[in-house]
Amino acid sequence: MSTHKAPYKRRITVPQIRSMKGTESPIVCLTAYTSLTARWLDSHVDLLLVGDSLGMVIYGMENTLSVTLDMMIAHAAAVRRGSERACLIVDMPFGTYEESPAVAFRNAARIMSESGASGVKIEGGVEMAPTTRYLVDRGIPVMGHVGLMPQSVNASGGFSARGKTDLDAQRILDDAKAVADAGAFSIVVEGTVEPLARKVTAAIDVPTIGIGASAACDGQILVTEDLVGLFMDFTPKFVKRYATLGEQIEDAGRRFADDVRARRFPADEHVFAMKPAKADASDV
Ligand code: KIV
Repeated sequence: MSTHKAPYKRRITVPQIRSMKGTESPIVCLTAYTSLTARWLDSHVDLLLVGDSLGMVIYGMENTLSVTLDMMIAHAAAVRRGSERACLIVDMPFGTYEESPAVAFRNAARIMSESGASGVKIEGGVEMAPTTRYLVDRGIPVMGHVGLMPQSVNASGGFSARGKTDLDAQRILDDAKAVADAGAFSIVVEGTVEPLARKVTAAIDVPTIGIGASAACDGQILVTEDLVGLFMDFTPKFVKRYATLGEQIEDAGRRFADDVRARRFPADEHVFAMKPAKADASDV
């Protein structure tokens, strides 16, 4: 178990995350969707992301497109209640920010005020730069997200790695530069080849947070349920499993079922006892 202890007394701020660009210590980020998970992770990470991946991981959806603003706000508020140290960032779900900067602001403001998050994340490159600028200028910190963008899965044709051709790599580099120039405080780079992640990281002055994008980034993020072996539909190549909680849950459930069926549970120690029958004036 890590002995890393929080050097901060208060929640890590967006400017603190921003200032970790190029420092020796990579920025450590994980997703959290619930208060309990947040409590377990809070002292070990710099940033908790309430990702819209919760649609697939928690709600069993096929992709992230059906996730709603209300779902994100409810989970973000829970994560906020379960954490006190990590910077808290929340994904804006599909359909809540693309239409116009003003719509994006209204929805981002709801996320911030109703959940207590420190900022939002939006997917998109050059086309989202004006929206990023609009939000940042109005006090909403924005984390960008380029490369593989799960909300564009229908347009891009799937979840395959990006940046493998010169043309695609150039497009993603342009996207990252545009979002950084627009004021994003950091950018998630998802599912890209290492040379591109390296180029993007060198080209922008805010931290890159990689997921499936190699160690060339300024920080790393994974979906916690992948990390602990809970999500079983598939394990992406870039995931390292640190636990097998899914198997432990199944084993616990099977043993409970065996005990109940064999009448081994509940045993005497799990049952409330009557008060001793000793006479007491107040009982009369
Ligand atoms: O939705 C999500 O969980 C994400 C991260 C994994 C980057 O966007």
